[in-house]
Amino acid sequence: MQKRASWGSQMGFILAAIGSAIGLGNIWRFSYMTYKNGGGAFLIPYLVALLIVGFPLLILEYGLGHKKHGASSLAFAKISRKIEWLGWWMPTFAYFGIMLFYTVIIGWCVNFMIYSINLSWGADPEAFFIKNFLQLSSSSTQIGSLVLPIVFSLAFVWLVCWFICFREVNHGIEKACIIFMPLLFVLTMVLIGWGFTLPGALEGIKWYLKPDFSKIMNWEVWMAAFGQIFFTLTLSFGVMIAYASYLPKKTDIVRNAYLTGIINCFYSFIMGFAVFSVLGYMANQAGVPVSEVVKSGVALAFIVFPKAISQLPAFNNIFGILFFGTLVIAGLSSAISLVEAFSRALTDKFDWNRKTTVHVLCVLGFLGSLLFATQGGLYFIDIVDHFINYYGLVLAGALECLLIGWVLKAHVLRNHINAVSGSHLNKLWDYLIKFVVPAILIITLLINLVKEISAPYEGYSIVAILILGVLWLVGTALLALIFTIPKWEKAKLEYNHFAEEDKLLV
Ligand code: PHE
Repeated sequence: MQKRASWGSQMGFILAAIGSAIGLGNIWRFSYMTYKNGGGAFLIPYLVALLIVGFPLLILEYGLGHKKHGASSLAFAKISRKIEWLGWWMPTFAYFGIMLFYTVIIGWCVNFMIYSINLSWGADPEAFFIKNFLQLSSSSTQIGSLVLPIVFSLAFVWLVCWFICFREVNHGIEKACIIFMPLLFVLTMVLIGWGFTLPGALEGIKWYLKPDFSKIMNWEVWMAAFGQIFFTLTLSFGVMIAYASYLPKKTDIVRNAYLTGIINCFYSFIMGFAVFSVLGYMANQAGVPVSEVVKSGVALAFIVFPKAISQLPAFNNIFGILFFGTLVIAGLSSAISLVEAFSRALTDKFDWNRKTTVHVLCVLGFLGSLLFATQGGLYFIDIVDHFINYYGLVLAGALECLLIGWVLKAHVLRNHINAVSGSHLNKLWDYLIKFVVPAILIITLLINLVKEISAPYEGYSIVAILILGVLWLVGTALLALIFTIPKWEKAKLEYNHFAEEDKLLV
């Protein structure tokens, strides 16, 4: 058996976990969601989701990786070979689903960082983004050709991921996050501070947080909150399990989970101030209400922001470089966690050399991402993202809770967590994991499914939806099955890192 690396320090672990959690979603998704779903009032469902789904699942994933001393593949196989499949499916769809397009979006941010230097998007950022930059094809069934500037930046993004990940975790990811995270916080503070000085900023922030309590009577708003918590905390990607497997024997799992969750959500909240003060400024310049300038996701970052950057009173290009640089760093620190989750799942089972595994994965990843660097890329991203988020993550999360709750047994994991943490996680956690969280997730899944059947997602061609959405989920499920088939080296499954401690537990 190969010797397992460990984090150089607890701080290194926390920074890496926060790095994974804070990603593009925190910057362009959270603030828009809050604005759309009741402003300040949305914080209620959001915090409830954090409390009853976010923390319990994060504690579960940290506890599982730590107790079984393995990435998701090994952790589930050690519970039972029968459930090993789930331990493969999570990192497989995260890698071949999310990672492949996530790196393309980070690539766009790299391109836009460069475009910021001379504000290349000119007077019409929308036309620039869609026509000149993406060269978007006319429908989701047309792949078109590769878009070269995107291919170059994509290669750069994969090169950085590879450079960080092929080393052991304490030499690669930990060191990178020790640099990335403080840098991210400084950049964010600069953006927020800068935003506040702009005329109209306060008006923008008012729109962001103005509470509308009637909205939170709507169950869709609650579902949005649960979905956002899931994605933002990188739950059921296999990432947090792999990261926790490198923790030392004694560690405060509960405190680690609270820290990760709180810092991540707080980051989203304050980043909203930067986003909305800029939107407030834009509205102020155009003499229109903020609701006319606000957009979400891709359109917010690559159309609305470039427009706003061009209008700034001074140092426009520096603001652009800072904004897109922030996105690049937030994105990279999330992307590397997926390389880690998948490569560790592989090297925990097969005696493959870590470096070679990461070399091969990054090359395959780059080649796979090329699909999203084509003229049809934006459509494909939209569809794959939708299916992975609405079905993959939710289904995997529900299965994860049920299997840990009922097969491993929630109280067994809780006893381990309490023994190593010196904390007092009580029985309520067991109920949440066994009943409440899976129930919420399954209901969410069913509602999504009913909606999907009544109207195909965003009116896309059903062919594109079938190929990209359904095949993606089924394809990764089959791939996971293939990884499950080979036998384990017996010693690996039987090795108990905590044998001594377990004796004391009974
Ligand atoms: N938490 C990340 C975000 O909010 C999600 C993510 C993690 C995406 C890891 C990709 C890789 O953006």
